[in-house]
Amino acid sequence: MKAIQYDEFGGPEVLKAVDIDAPHAGAGQVRIDVRAAGVNPADWKRFTGLFRDFMPIEFPSGVGFEAAGIVDEVGEEVTGVAAGDAVFGLGSNTLAEHAVLSSWAAKPDCMSFEVAGGLAVVAETGLRSIDQIGVKKGQTLLVSGASGGVGSAVIQFARYRGITVIGTAREPKHDYLRGLGAIPTTYGPGLSDRVSELAPQGVDAALDLAGSGNIPELIEIVGEPSRVLSLSDFSAPQHGAQFSTNPLEHPESALAEAARLYSEGVVRLHVERVFPLAQARDAYALSGKGHVTGKLVISVA
Ligand SMILES: NC(=O)c1ccc[n+]([C@@H]2O[C@H](COP(=O)([O-])OP(=O)(O)OC[C@H]3O[C@@H](n4cnc5c(N)ncnc54)[C@H](OP(=O)(O)O)[C@@H]3O)[C@@H](O)[C@H]2O)c1
Repeated sequence: MKAIQYDEFGGPEVLKAVDIDAPHAGAGQVRIDVRAAGVNPADWKRFTGLFRDFMPIEFPSGVGFEAAGIVDEVGEEVTGVAAGDAVFGLGSNTLAEHAVLSSWAAKPDCMSFEVAGGLAVVAETGLRSIDQIGVKKGQTLLVSGASGGVGSAVIQFARYRGITVIGTAREPKHDYLRGLGAIPTTYGPGLSDRVSELAPQGVDAALDLAGSGNIPELIEIVGEPSRVLSLSDFSAPQHGAQFSTNPLEHPESALAEAARLYSEGVVRLHVERVFPLAQARDAYALSGKGHVTGKLVISVA
């Protein structure tokens, strides 16, 4: 099968399309005939070597943590899914014609494979973050870096739970944020004043998605370090804030909830651009610039 791999750290130019044997589903896993796979910053943080100190890599390494497709092999101890089912989920080396998933949910018929391919990571991360920060109905959440994949999911899940969301993004993306149900504001100097105007009653919690180094400012806005959670800034705990990196023990419940909310029209996923597998380098060059709206997806037709 064709797969994207790299055998040295570097920019997107280290990614190569190679011919390798297809993987097999182990116990508790399924293998899919991949139709689409999501592009995530964690992919390029790995292949550029940013994660090398705590996430050792054996070369050659594959790329991708999520995908959607048709089940074509079912591992031992797996129930409730059969060859031929359309699913989306979390796995490894998903930028390939076949990939193994370790957690999955049924893809609703109304959801395209492109959307499904980019949904699993943001669904799991979005729901995990909201639960971990403990923000509840009637409260206000500030999201720093709200217009990317995770931010778009967080806004919609939080709004569904009755939470007011203030999201930061560059000005041209403010209509996009409003469309998801958030109150937009720009990031950068003066954030605290802008947020005070938008939320005179105060902010109950903040999520740092951008990792732009503003944890102290987010703590000042919220007034309580433990009510600030970062997904991207490893220095967060030094300030008393939380950091979240480990996926949920049972991500499939988050995937199923995202699928249900999508079917009910509550949650949408904006796919900024779809790239063919052969153009994976271009997809990561764009992701690495840091200004994606929604998700980038690789089509594996
Ligand atoms: N720890 C975990 O478990 C976990 C899981 C998933 C993701 N993550 C991390 O979470 C982060 C977000 O992921 P993602 O998939 O949403 O990324 P993404 O889709 O690439 O979006 C990044 C967003 O950041 C915004 N941005 C750029 N510079 C900014 C700044 N200085 N201040 C505020 N916003 C800024 C951009 O919007 P503008 O165009 O408005 O600048 C863009 O929409 C990444 O660092 C990713 O690695 C962590």
